[in-house]
Amino acid sequence: MTRLQQWVPPTERRSREAILRAGMPPPWPESPMRQVRRWASDMDGLLGEAAATGSAWTFDFWRQGRMAVFTSESARRQVLAAGPEELGHANDLAGLFVGPHSLLLRNGEDHARARRRTLKLIGAERLSVYGQAMLDVTREWLATLSPGDEIEVLDACQNMTLDIILRTVLGVPPGPDYDALHAAARAFMMSGRSVAGNLAALLLPTDALRGAVLGPEDPTGGSATLGALGRSLPGAVEGRTLVSLLRASIARRRAKPDGDDVLARLVQEGELGDAAILDEIATLLLAGHDTTAVTLGWMLYRIGRRPTLWTELRTELEAHTEGEPLDPTKLPRRGLLGACVMESLRLDGLTLGVLRRARRSVMIDGYRIPAGTLVNALVRPRHIDPERWDDPERFAPERMLSAKPAPHEFAPFGGGYRRCVGASFATYEMQIVLAGIAEAIELHTPPDVVVDRVQYGPFPGPSNRIPMRVVARP
Ligand code: HEM
Repeated sequence: MTRLQQWVPPTERRSREAILRAGMPPPWPESPMRQVRRWASDMDGLLGEAAATGSAWTFDFWRQGRMAVFTSESARRQVLAAGPEELGHANDLAGLFVGPHSLLLRNGEDHARARRRTLKLIGAERLSVYGQAMLDVTREWLATLSPGDEIEVLDACQNMTLDIILRTVLGVPPGPDYDALHAAARAFMMSGRSVAGNLAALLLPTDALRGAVLGPEDPTGGSATLGALGRSLPGAVEGRTLVSLLRASIARRRAKPDGDDVLARLVQEGELGDAAILDEIATLLLAGHDTTAVTLGWMLYRIGRRPTLWTELRTELEAHTEGEPLDPTKLPRRGLLGACVMESLRLDGLTLGVLRRARRSVMIDGYRIPAGTLVNALVRPRHIDPERWDDPERFAPERMLSAKPAPHEFAPFGGGYRRCVGASFATYEMQIVLAGIAEAIELHTPPDVVVDRVQYGPFPGPSNRIPMRVVARP
């Protein structure tokens, strides 16, 4: 190796020395510039590589700060059990679209209070209110299909999960407002899904980027100059339209506060002002539809590669409904339907680790983690660990019929005091969509279709739109 190749830039050398001096896990052996690039373009691969070493590492993500990455069971247990005074949220990038009232951006008692409120609206106790809307959306899509059709399942899933949020969270009736909200939300989500977008989010100040993209619609007020400069940035038109339509939905609900959807409930409660309501519904809209769509898409793809599962699902449903129409409030408990959802979350789940930011100095696995450091306790490696799951790369929902994985070894929704607040909603929704499809048709994956796991905006997702074929049920 030449002396030039051995040369380490002073900033990188200082960063490495600071990491070691602080008693943190050793610095990841690539330059910070390369780490940022890999995080933006292949975070699954980067973290998988780190996990394969079996050791803890510290990454340096420049503006986002340092991230201590752990793969041990003890670290997973500790991070999941940690309280809000020790490890707070690490969702700063959510601030690209939502304001400070968002559940994602709150910490401490303020977060606990907001979380209780949100759980009352979308937690397990209230799901039955939304089941029919979930089934209606599924059936409306099914009505557009005919046997022999070649379809792109990812698009269908994105449309359905967005429709479900529009109806259950915003309670928008079908019509021009509904269509405009749907189009703006889809376009905004698509615009943010690129490596360049990820890099911009990592490298630029979040508040400035939000101000530039959302301009006059920035939920925190924003600056006219930034807004004018950012008018032609990718996602600016779509983001501004989306926020202005959400504001209009709130105003309409204030004028006519009836209904059983989340927005109606928030207005009826009368506790929150418009800014806080905007943050709440924008959070549920953005955190709650593409995450579920991608998981649902993977699940259908996997079932389509083993089409006898459709027969098994139908047999289960028919035994359960005994000839009555499918009732979303009475789904089979602990059956194949739920097992397919769990197995999909295990094998293809988008969650790589439980991510927090230390609010005070903490010790994990003998390393000192200074306040302000990001902590990532990886869960994905455990989801596909051959020591825990037999033949882990195989989609085998039957294994989930009897599996009782502990929270520290199966955490597709994160865990602890910040576990996904929409976990029950998403699980219920995926079961209803799957049941609705299984009772009507089959979806088969053509043998030449292969879907790989790639970077998909801020998380890993499918490498294509998941082409599948509609087949009549026997
Ligand atoms: C398959 C679908 C979904 C997956 C894989 C998923 C995953 C996650 C994960 C990993 C977290 C972080 C948990 C932690 O830090 O421990 C999270 C948080 C969150 N999710 Fe989900 N999610 C999904 C669906 C939903 C849905 C449907 C909604 C709302 C309708 C939602 C709303 C939220 C919110 C608001 C938070 C922040 C919770 C807090 O900070 O207290 N998610 N989600």
